[in-house]
Amino acid sequence: MASPKVAVVGAGVIGLSTALCITETCPSCSVTVLSDQFSPNTTSDVAAGMLIPHTYPDTPIHRQKQWFKETFTYLFAISNSTEASEAGIHLVSGWQVFKSPPKEELPFWSDIVLGFRPMSEAELQKFPQHRFGQAFTTLKCDCPPYLLWLEKRLKATGTQMYTRKVADLWELHGEYDIIVNCAGMGAQQLVGDKQLIPVRGQVLKVHAPWVKLFIRDGDGLTYIYPGVHRVTLGGTRVKGSWSLSPDAGTARDIFDRCCSLEPSLQGAQDIEVKVGLRPSRQCVRVQREILSQGGVKLPVVHNYGHGAGGFSVHRGTATEAAHLVGECISALQGSSSRAKL
Ligand SMILES: Cc1cc2nc3c(=O)[nH]c(=O)nc-3n(C[C@H](O)[C@H](O)[C@H](O)COP(=O)(O)OP(=O)(O)OC[C@H]3O[C@@H](n4cnc5c(N)ncnc54)[C@H](O)[C@@H]3O)c2cc1C
Ligand SMILES: *[C@@H]1O[C@H](CO)[C@@H](O)[C@H](O)[C@H]1NC(C)=O
Ligand SMILES: *[C@@H]1O[C@H](CO)[C@@H](O)[C@H](O)[C@H]1NC(C)=O
Repeated sequence: MASPKVAVVGAGVIGLSTALCITETCPSCSVTVLSDQFSPNTTSDVAAGMLIPHTYPDTPIHRQKQWFKETFTYLFAISNSTEASEAGIHLVSGWQVFKSPPKEELPFWSDIVLGFRPMSEAELQKFPQHRFGQAFTTLKCDCPPYLLWLEKRLKATGTQMYTRKVADLWELHGEYDIIVNCAGMGAQQLVGDKQLIPVRGQVLKVHAPWVKLFIRDGDGLTYIYPGVHRVTLGGTRVKGSWSLSPDAGTARDIFDRCCSLEPSLQGAQDIEVKVGLRPSRQCVRVQREILSQGGVKLPVVHNYGHGAGGFSVHRGTATEAAHLVGECISALQGSSSRAKL
């Protein structure tokens, strides 16, 4: 097989970064991205894009840590290059505050983010409701810019991108040699995964350029994440809800919670309400599978189920998925050379 044809289904942060990793590890591959939505219409466009890992209960911690580390290293280099502003990648410092002692004094990612330390008494004076806190510097991906930058990088490698809803992976058989499933919440229908559950999140994107530091309540519900142009205020987590329409009462509640952490947000302007469905699963599914129907085989690589932390680990899972695509190619080459004998 001179140039294996690879179809990546999905154009959120996972699909685009996986497609990019495949073009890097397999330059001879012909890669096509097929997706029913592109930026700015994906879940990834709603996210704040902060690199603060979410913990997947059924994925071994060392694997999650490796994914986060790889993502952090990759984005740190971009943030330190001339591309940083176009790619929407920047460093951001701030605080994670707690009312009761944090479950873990040193979370698994504390030695990957920069300058992790307990907050000082003086810093904690800003938060009379909170008694404990952690200060650190991490990275943030602004979306849509980061997704558009990934698309631009892909186009430069000759990757084709088409708007197409895939109803069944088998419809791609014959057209493509290997299918990479990065459909996010769409995987529930596409591969019938009952373990994948939407966790609805509502956020506000506001104009408040004076807010420079991030603030996150350790309960994970309330957060203020400043980006290059907008500040993201959150949030909510509603398990099992598919509703994409913003709720006005919830928006008011998010705004009030954020103002109690950062009173100056009362002056925020141009408030936009966004909703996204986190594709949640007990563990991220990065896995190779050979589908088989009446003796016909279709190699598939899955990369979905990133829940609340897709940005934090996307480069790590993309590298792993690209490696699995490499394994599929070796297997196909093995079987085609046997077929010639
Ligand atoms: C409010 C909110 C805030 C968040 N904040 C953060 C954060 O700060 N940090 C962080 O790390 N994570 C955050 N997340 C989580 C993050 O958004 C997700 O983990 C991530 O976006 C998942 O990316 P994805 O590419 O798998 O999914 P998506 O972005 O949903 O992309 C899936 C793609 O697949 C396509 N697709 C689906 N089905 C089909 C089909 N049948 N045929 C063709 N195409 C299909 C879709 O059109 C889409 O392009 C947040 C999420 C929400 C909702
Ligand atoms: C996003 O959705 C809007 C509204 O449906 C549509 O007009 C626009 O073309 C979409 N953008 C892309 C890039 O698909
Ligand atoms: C940051 O940029 C400088 C100058 O280009 C380079 O020497 C250094 O290695 C870079 N560091 C990282 C982490 O990318």
